[in-house]
Amino acid sequence: MRYLRLICGLSLVSLIRATPTLERKVDYVVHEKRVEHPASLRTRRLEGHTLLPLRIGLKQRNLDNLADYLMSVSDPNSQTYGQHWTPEKVVETFAPAKETHDTVRRWLLDAGVDARRVHRSVNNAWVEIPDATVAEIEQLLDTQYHVYKHEGSEHIACDSYSLPRSVAEVVDIVTPTVQPDVNLADLQNSAKNRRSWNHQKISRAPPNSTSPAGCDTNVTPDCLRALYNMTYTPQATDKNSFGIVSYFSNTYLQSDLDMFFRNFSPSLVGKSPALVSINGGSVDPVEGSAFSEDGWILEYAMTLTQPQPVMFLQVGGPQTGDIIPSFNQWLDAVDGSYCTFEGGDDFTYDPIIPSPFPGGLLKKDCGIIKPPHVVSNSQSDHENRFSQFYLQRQCNEFAKLGLMGTTVIYSSGNTGTTGPQSGLCLDDNGSMTYNGTKFLSGWPAACPWITAVGGTQVKANTTVARPGTEEVWNEEVAPGVFFSGGGGFSNRFPTPSYQKNNVENFLKNLKKNDPAQLKHFNNNGRAFPDLSANANHFVAAEDGEFTTDRGTSGAVPTVGSIVTLINDARIHAGKTPVGFINPAIHSPNFANAFNDITSGSSGGCKSIQGVRDGGFKAGKGWDPASGVGTPNLGLLIEKWLALP
Ligand SMILES: *[C@@H]1O[C@H](CO)[C@@H](O)[C@H](O)[C@H]1NC(C)=O
Ligand SMILES: *[C@@H]1O[C@H](CO)[C@@H](O)[C@H](O)[C@H]1NC(C)=O
Ligand SMILES: *[C@@H]1O[C@H](CO)[C@@H](O)[C@H](O)[C@H]1NC(C)=O
Ligand SMILES: *[C@@H]1O[C@H](CO)[C@@H](O)[C@H](O)[C@H]1NC(C)=O
Ligand SMILES: *[C@@H]1O[C@H](CO)[C@@H](O)[C@H](O)[C@H]1NC(C)=O
Repeated sequence: MRYLRLICGLSLVSLIRATPTLERKVDYVVHEKRVEHPASLRTRRLEGHTLLPLRIGLKQRNLDNLADYLMSVSDPNSQTYGQHWTPEKVVETFAPAKETHDTVRRWLLDAGVDARRVHRSVNNAWVEIPDATVAEIEQLLDTQYHVYKHEGSEHIACDSYSLPRSVAEVVDIVTPTVQPDVNLADLQNSAKNRRSWNHQKISRAPPNSTSPAGCDTNVTPDCLRALYNMTYTPQATDKNSFGIVSYFSNTYLQSDLDMFFRNFSPSLVGKSPALVSINGGSVDPVEGSAFSEDGWILEYAMTLTQPQPVMFLQVGGPQTGDIIPSFNQWLDAVDGSYCTFEGGDDFTYDPIIPSPFPGGLLKKDCGIIKPPHVVSNSQSDHENRFSQFYLQRQCNEFAKLGLMGTTVIYSSGNTGTTGPQSGLCLDDNGSMTYNGTKFLSGWPAACPWITAVGGTQVKANTTVARPGTEEVWNEEVAPGVFFSGGGGFSNRFPTPSYQKNNVENFLKNLKKNDPAQLKHFNNNGRAFPDLSANANHFVAAEDGEFTTDRGTSGAVPTVGSIVTLINDARIHAGKTPVGFINPAIHSPNFANAFNDITSGSSGGCKSIQGVRDGGFKAGKGWDPASGVGTPNLGLLIEKWLALP
């Protein structure tokens, strides 16, 4: 959709120019191919005179070492544990070599492109011809562009493209080329359904259960404190930071927060989170209308970490004209170098800034704040919706944030092993259908460099909630429709070293107990979730009433709050924040600081024996239904204070 906007914006400028005759080089190699081939959607060749901004992302140095660098500061056994990098060191380490730029420029000039049309970015990360014709690009890249119909609008793409061998060696990506991954299931779902916001409202509920009794039907902050052994009071709030990312315009009402605080955390009445406006994002509540999940999330994050100030990273969806806001917006805002890294944002998935439309945003927010120590994202998307390059670039950035000492937490999704709707799985052709038998992965849960949070619930008829009274969250909300925490294995990213032991143990048991399941997922993939937390029956104040909400949207800020409290204890003791926590929480030494979840199972593909049978069972140790379990804050603080 965004490409069409781009084309419309530019084709108004009808520039007639003689296409330079470009000599086809012999020594070309295919650089990128589309993962999916929606040939049926193809409508026509893209007109040769159409102007496109051709951007060539240069290969960064040292990306191969990124995992090692990250492990060196986050593996509890490392000599340099906790010694996070400065942003300057990160930029310097990964910037492309100068010769890289020269190689690409020489190729373009040799091919007949006027030197004045070839630009380069300030940080040397990419080379651009802002006004390349399609005919020109087709010759440079030895390819053909087509127009695709998608959701009633048109996309453009080529199936694959090639580069001279010497250029291919120094180039990561060329845009726009193969990026729009259009698949049939996307077509069937509205844009709204494609990204799961992991928030499900259930019913009106009694507001004021403040004891750990009744937590099987009404979860309050005290229930979470009882389940997760949370008695710690923050002492270093001026040095600590905790950010919540939001993408909604109709965010929250202060009167709702106050209503919740009056019952559960009276000292917070009147307090708001600190707004960080990204790309025009604002808090714009309209009383009496449908609210986003932000109120609920803030009520818990602020209550569980009080008196820690909470930052609210509000991304401007309406301001950028984006129905589906991209995760790259907050990443650009906390790390200015990411704005241009490997060619910058991809307009297939990210908003076009500067906007070609009247009144649109002229400038993107790049590096406007330091990354908070913990960033909580209650959202999730789907791995198979994006090109591999897009996933890899974003995943690298998550690793860089870990390197700088930030804990990035995302939801693992609300639909078990399946896609945006419960029951949708991948078929042999890589499309999402109800007949598919191959499990899907959430995004960015499938990236090994974030912490993915799954869902649990308090077992029915639990009289007093305490560690050990939880099971996997999984409920049938309508015939054939279930909700349960996302979990499984990436189809694109391999198992990282830090979780190999846990994953091998799980696979060994599965081979013994249910070998038929092994063929439904990538046994060598990054496995998630990493841990889980309660995702059901949250009591929340919403538009002047108490209600209950469910979803991993509540599990994520709960874990974010717990990591924030651990950071407080470390900072108070003169240590660094925990940063990337996965190597620690998957290590044997940390295992007894989690409540192992051993009962229940997640939901799965519709096509595999009934609705839920394609899901994963929880068992001893790590499993894809509940991760390593739910946290025990008191014990985790002890573990983390023992580390340097
Ligand atoms: C809880 O709230 C209800 C009204 O919603 C009220 O009748 C009841 O007395 C309250 N209980 C406590 C313990 O405050
Ligand atoms: C997969 O694609 C092949 C070739 O395009 C086609 O013949 C087959 O029917 C497809 N299978 C499914 C399950 O869509
Ligand atoms: C999916 O399965 C149904 C039967 O459950 C069948 O009618 C339909 O043709 C199948 N679709 C594909 C694409 O195989
Ligand atoms: C919970 O208690 C109710 C009422 O005693 C009973 O009907 C139900 O089966 C119990 N549920 C479980 C999971 O034990
Ligand atoms: C809770 O944490 C404290 C340390 O703060 C520890 O002494 C205690 O044993 C923990 N309780 C449980 C039930 O794990």
